[in-house]
Amino acid sequence: MEFYIINGGPRKKYNTAELLKKASEGIKDELKDIDEDVNIHQIHLYDLNFKGCKSCFHCKRIGGKYYAQCPIKDDLLELLPKVQNSDGIIFGSPIYFGEITGELRSFLERFLFSILVYGGESNAPKRMPMAMIYTMNVTEEGFNLFYGDKFDILENAMANLISKPYSLKVYDTFQFSDYSKYENYAFDPELKAKRKEEHFPIDLDNAYNLGKKIAQDSLKLNE
Ligand SMILES: Cc1cc2nc3c(=O)[nH]c(=O)nc-3n(C[C@H](O)[C@H](O)[C@H](O)COP(=O)(O)O)c2cc1C
Repeated sequence: MEFYIINGGPRKKYNTAELLKKASEGIKDELKDIDEDVNIHQIHLYDLNFKGCKSCFHCKRIGGKYYAQCPIKDDLLELLPKVQNSDGIIFGSPIYFGEITGELRSFLERFLFSILVYGGESNAPKRMPMAMIYTMNVTEEGFNLFYGDKFDILENAMANLISKPYSLKVYDTFQFSDYSKYENYAFDPELKAKRKEEHFPIDLDNAYNLGKKIAQDSLKLNE
């Protein structure tokens, strides 16, 4: 079985990356006793060379060579079909100005638009379970106040084209290793440290269980 863990954030050792690592462990543990090989691919989008959809419409060209595929020749050319044919995908992204990062957005434009048929059935080659992990500075109350149903459009598109993603939101993250070194009038370093100590372990557990859930759903689909 093939799983993809896709980090849409730039940092390889912080909140998003740590949560994705836990989710990956959840998949691995859940599938440790199955006979098949289990490969969990870790993708750091910031290491790849690619841009968003260029609106060439080759993916919709009737009878065209690249019908239902993205023809752009960059680091996503070979990766997108592999992810589209995988058994489960977990995306992670920090929230930047109320949105997922530009890199994950660009990836999803090409991942989703290549299988979208205007007014028709999805061209997805496979319906695998998916999850989104969002990390952000705001508290849960702040999220509800400022962002509310912000991610619904994207998640509904994913649901229509492939499957409804699970959504794990991780609030009030610890952003710097030493708050005294950075200019900041918004966050209380002590409260941030407390939150990290008391709540981040719960977030990590949630991510681990999310990984298990993706693995379980995938097994069910493959029955
Ligand atoms: C460019 C930039 C923009 C950000 N914008 C927001 C924002 O709009 N809302 C928010 O809650 N946090 C915002 N943050 C904070 C990050 O989303 C948060 O610290 C996240 O957990 C970082 O993930 P990481 O630790 O994996 O890098 C922003 C951070 C950066 C660097």
